[in-house]
Amino acid sequence: MTTEPELLRAQVARLQSELSIMEAELAETNKGVVALYAELDDNAVQLREAADLKSRFLSYMSHEFRTPLASITSIADILISGLDGPLTSEQNRQVQFVRGSVRELTEMVDDLLDLAKVDAGRISISPEWFEMVDLFSALRGMFKPIVTSGAVSLIFEETNAIPRIYTDDKKLSQILRNFISNALKFTSAGEVRVSAALVSDGRVEFAVSDTGIGIAKEHLPALFNDFVQIDTRIQKRLRGTGLGLSLARKFAELLGGHVGVTSEEGRGSRFYVVIPTHYADQPK
Ligand SMILES: Nc1ncnc2c1ncn2[C@@H]1O[C@H](COP(=O)(O)OP(=O)(O)O)[C@@H](O)[C@H]1O
Ligand SMILES: [Mg+2]
Repeated sequence: MTTEPELLRAQVARLQSELSIMEAELAETNKGVVALYAELDDNAVQLREAADLKSRFLSYMSHEFRTPLASITSIADILISGLDGPLTSEQNRQVQFVRGSVRELTEMVDDLLDLAKVDAGRISISPEWFEMVDLFSALRGMFKPIVTSGAVSLIFEETNAIPRIYTDDKKLSQILRNFISNALKFTSAGEVRVSAALVSDGRVEFAVSDTGIGIAKEHLPALFNDFVQIDTRIQKRLRGTGLGLSLARKFAELLGGHVGVTSEEGRGSRFYVVIPTHYADQPK
């Protein structure tokens, strides 16, 4: 017959042996974790190097592109102005075409350069006090030469209810410019409407709604990533880099806010950005 102390001893011995097995397993797992950490470190270094190379390449390339683009632009402008003698109407049409293409190319190069700057952490935010009315009227002026078809109207809603805002108006303007130029690009009839409204706790939402082709649900999640363009027939006719929206997202985050979209295929899209009405330095 086994006595109680013997039973207890047996139990303790069993527990001890279980414990030592567990300890051995733990030690092995630890070794594995250490090895994984080392591998992760290696990967992180490689990733950093790749990202670095990408942004150096982008900024180098964009700089090299700018000089020839600037000279094409100014020569086209001189030709159009008639300074060197009048152009025939056909010549004028052709030079206008060159001017338009060079404008597009310049915008793409600017996008690339901005992306390189954001990736390298070289974008600085300079907040200022400004009135929404001024921002909207500057945007209206900017898009006037582009909205010529008559089939699409670009509407800026009243901003009376919006107080003065303290943020980087150039970044905000760039976000809205991207939204508006996309909306115009993908809308052949109807309207593109730009609005501003106060939402909760000192935040303001700007939205650009269009009555254009819309975006299928499956494309929405990746829309704000670098270089994303949706593969449609209309898309193939239109140039662009697929960087506008990812820049918009990055700028919005720099301003302490976020971007988003709702859309229905064939009916239209609504792109929005929500930012604080008062920019505060984000703790790093
Ligand atoms: N208002 C819109 N309506 C429909 N599709 C849109 C709209 N805005 C953006 N998109 C889709 O999202 C893609 C990414 O936009 P963006 O990053 O600005 O790149 P890009 O304008 O250079 O193509 C566009 O190519 C288009 O497929
Ligand atoms: Mg775009």
